[in-house]
Amino acid sequence: MDEPIRVLVTGAAGQIGYALVPLIARGHLLGANQPVILHMLDIPPCADSLKGVEMELLDGAFPLLRGIVATTDVVEAATGVKVAVMVGGFPRKAGMERREVMGKNVTIYKEQAAALDKYADKSVKQRGAEIIKARKFSSALSAASAACNHVYNWLNGTPEGTWVSMGVYSDGSYGVPAGLIYSFPVTCKSGEWEIVQGLSIDDFSRGKMDATAAELLDEKNLADSIIKGT
Ligand SMILES: NC(=O)c1ccc[n+]([C@@H]2O[C@H](COP(=O)([O-])OP(=O)(O)OC[C@H]3O[C@@H](n4cnc5c(N)ncnc54)[C@H](O)[C@@H]3O)[C@@H](O)[C@H]2O)c1
Repeated sequence: MDEPIRVLVTGAAGQIGYALVPLIARGHLLGANQPVILHMLDIPPCADSLKGVEMELLDGAFPLLRGIVATTDVVEAATGVKVAVMVGGFPRKAGMERREVMGKNVTIYKEQAAALDKYADKSVKQRGAEIIKARKFSSALSAASAACNHVYNWLNGTPEGTWVSMGVYSDGSYGVPAGLIYSFPVTCKSGEWEIVQGLSIDDFSRGKMDATAAELLDEKNLADSIIKGT
């Protein structure tokens, strides 16, 4: 068997995190032969529930799970990780403005991205929770399962002749503004993704795609303005 890979899940005491960590421990993220050391990060008020998640994982005796780092310290969480699944964040509550909730989450991701940049394994693959949000899953279980499939395909490759939908940087393909994170048909090989070109798009899909692009552009501009403090 291979050397264990350190995988970080942020917000591991939350709904998606709780559903996600056993999937990772079972090999659904990195494959059935890849041992993992799970790093789980949450905030101090959730330290007790995080401990509970750790205890459940230990009771589960997953053969691929070679260690657990359950912590509220972002540096400890980021140190040595190769894959980061960032689902920790602040949910939008009744009466909250979009700008307010995005402000909180942008600050969280900025801090965690900086820690990953400094302390993670240099080949770290990060994928923001924004992807999960953008795809509007109706339940934490399906969100956790989709996040697993996503990273699995990304790192292990898509089977020859098939493709998957993945939220990736737009290079302007299919008329989607460059720089947006947008769901495209992609093939993956050796940890790299490539947008499938040349698919035909009917008028109905074109309209939906343009509306989605406009919405995402709006969110991107809002996040940019929060980061720049304007
Ligand atoms: N559950 C869903 O179906 C769904 C659907 C769409 C979007 N989302 C979004 O995905 C994210 C996760 O969803 P969830 O249902 O697991 O939410 P949740 O509220 O159950 O869990 C979020 C977890 O993130 C933790 N957290 C907050 N700030 C953190 C920080 N700075 N560092 C580390 N952890 C932090 C929280 O303490 C909590 O445990 C949320 O932002 C949510 O709005 C969820």
